[in-house]
Amino acid sequence: MAPPPAPNTSASANSKGYVSPDNPSHGPLFKVNSPNVQYTGQHILAEYAYQNTLVERNDDGTFTVKPTETTYHFKTDVRVPKVGLMMVGWGGNNGSTVTASVLANKNHITWRTKRGIQEPNYWGSVIQASTLKLGVDSKGNDVYIPFSQVLPMTNPNDLVIGGWDISRVDLGAAMERAAVLDYDLQRQVRPMMETMVPLASIYYPDFIAANQVDRADNLIPGNDKHAHLEQIRKDIREFKAKNNLDKVIIVWTANTERYADIVPGVNDTATNILASVRASHPEISPSTIFALACIREHVPFINGSPQNTFVPGVIELAQQERTYIGGDDFKSGQTKFKSAIVDFLVNAGIKPVSITSYNHLGNNDGKNLSSYAQFRSKEISKSTVVDDMVAANRLLYKEDEHPDHTVVIKYVPAVGDSKRALDEYECDIFMGGRQSISVYNICEDSFLASPLILDLTVVTELMTRIEYRTEETSKWSPFHSVLSILSYMLKAPLVAPNTPVVNALARQRAAMENIFRACVGLTPSNDMLLEHKVWKH
Ligand SMILES: NC(=O)c1ccc[n+]([C@@H]2O[C@H](COP(=O)([O-])OP(=O)(O)OC[C@H]3O[C@@H](n4cnc5c(N)ncnc54)[C@H](O)[C@@H]3O)[C@@H](O)[C@H]2O)c1
Repeated sequence: MAPPPAPNTSASANSKGYVSPDNPSHGPLFKVNSPNVQYTGQHILAEYAYQNTLVERNDDGTFTVKPTETTYHFKTDVRVPKVGLMMVGWGGNNGSTVTASVLANKNHITWRTKRGIQEPNYWGSVIQASTLKLGVDSKGNDVYIPFSQVLPMTNPNDLVIGGWDISRVDLGAAMERAAVLDYDLQRQVRPMMETMVPLASIYYPDFIAANQVDRADNLIPGNDKHAHLEQIRKDIREFKAKNNLDKVIIVWTANTERYADIVPGVNDTATNILASVRASHPEISPSTIFALACIREHVPFINGSPQNTFVPGVIELAQQERTYIGGDDFKSGQTKFKSAIVDFLVNAGIKPVSITSYNHLGNNDGKNLSSYAQFRSKEISKSTVVDDMVAANRLLYKEDEHPDHTVVIKYVPAVGDSKRALDEYECDIFMGGRQSISVYNICEDSFLASPLILDLTVVTELMTRIEYRTEETSKWSPFHSVLSILSYMLKAPLVAPNTPVVNALARQRAAMENIFRACVGLTPSNDMLLEHKVWKH
């Protein structure tokens, strides 16, 4: 995708239909002039007509279709708070890359590479580096604005960063160990990172690969899982107080754990899981302890790894406490591509019959995934990614028919963080023909995942400031605890119980964009361009 055009100091549309992010007024980049939208100083209040289409299937196989309309009122607090980002696995490749990159952006640090001087940026962040179409100008030209300007959002440069790791090395040394960033950048940010040392964390050896044991030197002592949970809660409160923060968002970017067994009476309900933590039950994983601690502290928790941290008891507790959770597994390279290309193929009437995905990587994530139980978590999260696209086209696929889908991951230390992904899409096409698409994708893993961590943080924080009400519910209410709006950034999106999962990348982006548009009283984006398809009178 082409980068956004260079900033322009005028806030009006330029010849490319782009509106500058450099907004000299320091206020909102736009205001909506509509009787349905009010700006109170503290809030944007929007009345929005949500239009849908209700379809009933008749006995004879036909449908009866009824357009519906529900009025939603949205209230967005426009005061951007002081936000902390705490990462679990802070000293890993992603954690150290996020930290160094934010410091480089914040302090305008440039660095020398063999190609010349490199400027810091947030490319790969859908919020910071992509635009959305606000509307059209009087001549019919599209007007685009930075995605980050649709509603008031946290600037990643302003995040206060901290976190936990089972490895004690400081963030400067962690960045060197990760071997992700150019040396000349490391050299400059290192003095700022050497003072950052991860908090001690929870290590239950059974959950991550045995090959991680040599890193585990920064542990909360003891085997009492309830005491561990209370320590994490205390860490969160102290971090918030020490840094004078209004809000904290917590992201799991630690090693992939094995799946936890769902055991009736142990982790199936909120009551049972809390009792199981008190009893230090062996099926309670470290990531679940973090999730429970966050729920108890009313702090959003996002899981960037594939394991089933959100066992039913955790989801129930989050709902009871009305706090936010989101996951699972960052959708960075190979799977992001898959969720775009399979959507394209199936919607083009082309039938993928097999998807064969190999990848090899040589970072610590790859080392952990070389153990079967942890690989299995990844395999599950990578495998479900085309299900909704396939189910949407019963012309191509019969009920319960799926493309063959294989995922292989190998650990090859020599390639480091530079993951090599090879995918073959074998497709049935017109009149018995075959199309084979082969993709070779070098995904510099942490460069792709780090902007997603920032997007997840920024969007989650924004969601904590939006409330809604409908005609039936006169009281303002927060959104559902399970933030499925984060799906664009996640491989196996967690959704509210009994609601559909959307994996198709374009639909996920449209959902995020259109919900934010609704919050300022604007209709969903569409590409009808009717005004250009009719005679001009
Ligand atoms: N980089 C990507 O593109 C990408 C994409 C999707 C998912 N992920 C997932 O993100 C996670 C992190 O990836 P990475 O490349 O940074 O891995 P990494 O191995 O470099 O970092 C993980 C860190 O977590 C620490 N850790 C392990 N268990 C912990 C615990 N219980 N508490 C605190 N810290 C703990 C480790 O010491 C390590 O520093 C992995 O699970 C990976 O599968 C990464």
